[in-house]
Amino acid sequence: MKKVTKKNAAPSLQFNTNWQYDPSPESTDHVVIDKQYDLFINGKFVKPTKGKYFDTINPARETVIAKVAEAGREDVDKAVSAARNAYDKVWSKMPAAERGKYIYRIARIIQERARELSIIESMDGGKPIRESRDIDVPLAAAHFFYYAGWADKLDFAFPGKKAAPLGVAGQIIPWNFPLLMAAWKIAPALAAGNTVVLKPAETTPLTALKLAEIIRDADLPPGVVNIITGAGETGAAIVNHPGINKIAFTGSTDVGKIIQKSLAGTSKKYTLELGGKAANIIFEDAAIDQAVEGIINGIFFNQGHVCCAGSRLFVQEGVAKTVIKKLKDRIETLIVGDPLDKNTDIGAINSRAQLNKIKSLVKIGVNEGGTMHQSSCSLPAKGFWFKPTLFTDVAQSSRIVQEEVFGPVLAIQTFRTVEEVIEKANNTPYGLSGGVWTDKGSKVFKVSSKLRAGVIWANTYNKFDPTSPFGGYKESGLGREGGLHGLYAYMK
Ligand code: NAI
Ligand code: MG
Repeated sequence: MKKVTKKNAAPSLQFNTNWQYDPSPESTDHVVIDKQYDLFINGKFVKPTKGKYFDTINPARETVIAKVAEAGREDVDKAVSAARNAYDKVWSKMPAAERGKYIYRIARIIQERARELSIIESMDGGKPIRESRDIDVPLAAAHFFYYAGWADKLDFAFPGKKAAPLGVAGQIIPWNFPLLMAAWKIAPALAAGNTVVLKPAETTPLTALKLAEIIRDADLPPGVVNIITGAGETGAAIVNHPGINKIAFTGSTDVGKIIQKSLAGTSKKYTLELGGKAANIIFEDAAIDQAVEGIINGIFFNQGHVCCAGSRLFVQEGVAKTVIKKLKDRIETLIVGDPLDKNTDIGAINSRAQLNKIKSLVKIGVNEGGTMHQSSCSLPAKGFWFKPTLFTDVAQSSRIVQEEVFGPVLAIQTFRTVEEVIEKANNTPYGLSGGVWTDKGSKVFKVSSKLRAGVIWANTYNKFDPTSPFGGYKESGLGREGGLHGLYAYMK
């Protein structure tokens, strides 16, 4: 009999990495992107007062997609006046059922233009088309549909209370879910009867500007929604504008703290959705393969650019070896590359600044004694990329365990008992989300009731629905978005 050696052994069936998918890029032929975008104020696109524009680039190619207006103080002022005027004269006077019709119309146009919106989202921000197509855009439409339904039922939503809007809402959103965050914020504000000034993030303004076109096409009365672009200074001008009644912010904890300070002592209401460092906890009795898939989804979804990303993994000792082995195998099969390719699992990092932040924290992780394991995949020559990365041998005090990396980096620790893991999981300044993987319902309830986090998923991860409130404890923020809670935040 022939001796089986390493060379003539049958190829492993487990993970044969020799084969590859054929490229399957989404066509961009039908997508119209202008060379330059102005500010959407009072129902029209208008030039910025100072005439300044900045570039938004495609992070997968490092090419400029379009020039976008930078709104200064004067422009913020114009947008707030337009929103106030629309609030006083039109939107607050309109029968609620009519308001609802406009919001439904926005939802339907988003559906009609879903393909175009997903492609632009992936080009501007770097996320895989599969996510923008299957998650961001459908969920954005779903939020408009959901809140449209509440517009004429506010008295039923909050029985015994007289529902009244706040006035003009200033909304500042980040770059990780650009269109979806715009929907999270605009839809409940409009349903509750407020008008809006919204600013998207400077690296991903394009889908918000497309939404401005949609809002114009939906014939919304001028000034009800104003969308202005710019960076931190523009955001600060919105926060500090005296004509604004409410601020809704999603972004970094650092900026959240600055905003909270500037709003202290004013009558403005605010909600803050900030960072996170979620714990995914896997017990020995869990369905291991499902859990591994959930953990992969929890941290590598959208390149880890997710405030609720499961960036810390706690695995019970008895299954630690198996789980870590499976995670290492699984990251080998993740496809990193062109965001517009339908096979891609991990797209481009949103910006060079974010890539540098990830690199520096990972370096610190290694210097602090962590053991790093990365996928052996190759990365495209141009663009901003980071390989899926696992860290073991990390301590509770490691910066990679304590700080938000906001990239495809998972810090893995082990535990023995339920009490121990609850204590470890809660040992973080954040408290946005978490995951529990176990076969026992009682353990799900015990652990989730003791975790100090706003959202806990059991035997799943990263599931979102417009009816469900979302938000954090501690440094993860203040207030809730989504569901009735999200509506309440826009009312007196
Ligand atoms: P950021 O917090 O600076 O940006 C978020 C939004 O706030 C953008 O629209 C930005 O223009 C605006 N902004 C910036 N400074 C402002 C100010 N002083 N006043 C008002 N608005 C202001 O986030 P950045 O710098 O892009 O990312 C840094 C880190 O923040 C990331 O590495 C990540 O850890 C975290 N982050 C968390 C997000 C979340 O969803 N929780 C989203 C984005 C970033
Ligand atoms: Mg961009």
